[in-house]
Amino acid sequence: KGLARAVLILRKYMTAAYNKRHRVCVLYATETGNSERYAQRLGKFLSAFAAVTVSNMETYDAQKLEKEEVVICVASTFGDGDSPSCASSFKSKLEEGNLNLKNVQFSVFGLGSTLYDDFAAFGKFLDSRLAELGAERVNPLAKGDEIAGSEPTFKKWIGSLWRNLSNLWSIKQADYDHGLKVLGIVRGTNNFVSTYTLEPAKAHASQGKSAPVSTTYNRSNPYTATLIENTELLKKTSGDRSTRKIGLKVDTNAVKFNAGDHLGVMPSNRPELVQELLEILRVKDADTRYELKPTGGEDSLSTPFTTLPFTIREAFTDFLDITSPPKPEFLEVFAHFAVHPGDKTKLQDLSKGTEEYDSWLEHNYPTLPELFNLFPVSIPLELLLEKLPQMQTRFYSISSSPNMYPNEVHLTVSVVKYVTPSGKQHYGVASNFLANSKFGAKVKVFSRHSDFSLPKSPATPILLVGPGTGLAPLRSFWQERAHLKDLGQAALFFGCRSRNEDYIYEKEVANAKARGLLSHVSVAFSRDSAKKVYVQDKLVEEADMVVKLLTEGAHVYVCGDATMATGVKDAFKQIVQTKMGLSAEASAKYMDELTKSKRYLTDVFG
Ligand code: 2AM
Repeated sequence: KGLARAVLILRKYMTAAYNKRHRVCVLYATETGNSERYAQRLGKFLSAFAAVTVSNMETYDAQKLEKEEVVICVASTFGDGDSPSCASSFKSKLEEGNLNLKNVQFSVFGLGSTLYDDFAAFGKFLDSRLAELGAERVNPLAKGDEIAGSEPTFKKWIGSLWRNLSNLWSIKQADYDHGLKVLGIVRGTNNFVSTYTLEPAKAHASQGKSAPVSTTYNRSNPYTATLIENTELLKKTSGDRSTRKIGLKVDTNAVKFNAGDHLGVMPSNRPELVQELLEILRVKDADTRYELKPTGGEDSLSTPFTTLPFTIREAFTDFLDITSPPKPEFLEVFAHFAVHPGDKTKLQDLSKGTEEYDSWLEHNYPTLPELFNLFPVSIPLELLLEKLPQMQTRFYSISSSPNMYPNEVHLTVSVVKYVTPSGKQHYGVASNFLANSKFGAKVKVFSRHSDFSLPKSPATPILLVGPGTGLAPLRSFWQERAHLKDLGQAALFFGCRSRNEDYIYEKEVANAKARGLLSHVSVAFSRDSAKKVYVQDKLVEEADMVVKLLTEGAHVYVCGDATMATGVKDAFKQIVQTKMGLSAEASAKYMDELTKSKRYLTDVFG
């Protein structure tokens, strides 16, 4: 009896202590799952000294912000400065401005790519808007760059967040130390013990739960499309270059998109790579169903890659990234389990993420099986499953018009294959997954809105610039125009190596021109003559037409890699400067205004 009473008192005391804890609401806006992972790690860290909830902005009612104590946003940016689609209603609510956040403290970690002019724009928006609505910035905004790597920025930001929060609250050193261990980005022995156990799935659980009934398809609930076309678009290939036209059957009432939008594809790793890894790890029961059980009880903030039973083969095929090279913090875990002492030291050095790591990475760029071959380690399987990054969604520009091809979506996919400086043949995950998929194969997809869309009025002239696979979304535009009336001018600038090699969709372009869907076509062949000719040279050649269309209010669309996009923007500046008689400064301003008014749109890939 006495014991029961003691337990009751203790419980009461613990509840009271819990209630006194500070409250932190972590909100994320994610495009590929990256921000979600940062948010979950942050949640784990903070839960050592505060009561934390971690939510997607999509499901969070922004009105509740007024009642929060501390709000931490981890937010990606989509394309040229938009919010990810999951955050659009949250953003609108903040824009409406009738929230009073004077009792709220906040900090923002923004993610984005420096390939875009307005880097991490949605994070910047949240940071300034929350302050305008009265909230107090407890810690300055940090912007993580996916090109240079956002992890170091995240570490620094979390350090300063901690310092600022500890000035605000009195946090015990022990709680902080615990937070750091849990976080897994700061060195500590706790990093080397899995927070899960791997248990055979119970028989009744092996059927899996039925998929949620939903009409909105997204990363966590993708649509299963069927492959109906997979053809080579290159006429002649030098080396093993390949660009595929991929056709997928989708219910376009369920997966809604317009010309210019993106398709998220959930790829699988190469079966050969998976098999190699299974052999290295000596997994004998790769096709038996398992479950991951959190060791610390209901640790809701941990994120296993699935809550459903899975086989080890499925985990390495569909859920985890075993192709991308390891991040420094993963090497730290790896070092702990190195078989040879020399390897341990080497891995520890690499895990510092300094220049030594950078040059090692550049030389090897190792897949996970290659890493095991470079450094034999004996790591517990559940820890490997927990520490490996999750498979990333890849986005492709949609290449077809849903009006011309109802219930279909076409992609134009350049197949990524390369040999690393260390001499190993590597394959890009998503492009090879699609290129190797046969008729009838199932592909998990969802659509994503893009600002890269045709002008409201079909009469508005358009300038289309897209060399190589940059042609992909432009094809959806000319197809869409077949279903529009009173068409304005449409000038296409395409570029490729050689007329007989990689002039993709040549016949379709000629057809579109004959039908008036395109009014002008210029093609730059970079390797058909001694001198390289690029799309920007063709733009300069046609400067009079370019300026005429711009003064008539043309919208400009540029799609392709970042270097090309910079070259093309410079060409526009030069054209505007010489043909409109503007100063260098005035022409730069003219281009800025075009961008701001969404008349100069880019769809850039790395
Ligand atoms: P290259 O490979 O012969 O240099 C599609 O990839 C086309 O874009 C190719 O003809 C390629 O030419 C060209 N290209 C490469 N770099 C470019 C740049 N900076 N600007 C414009 N086009 C470029």
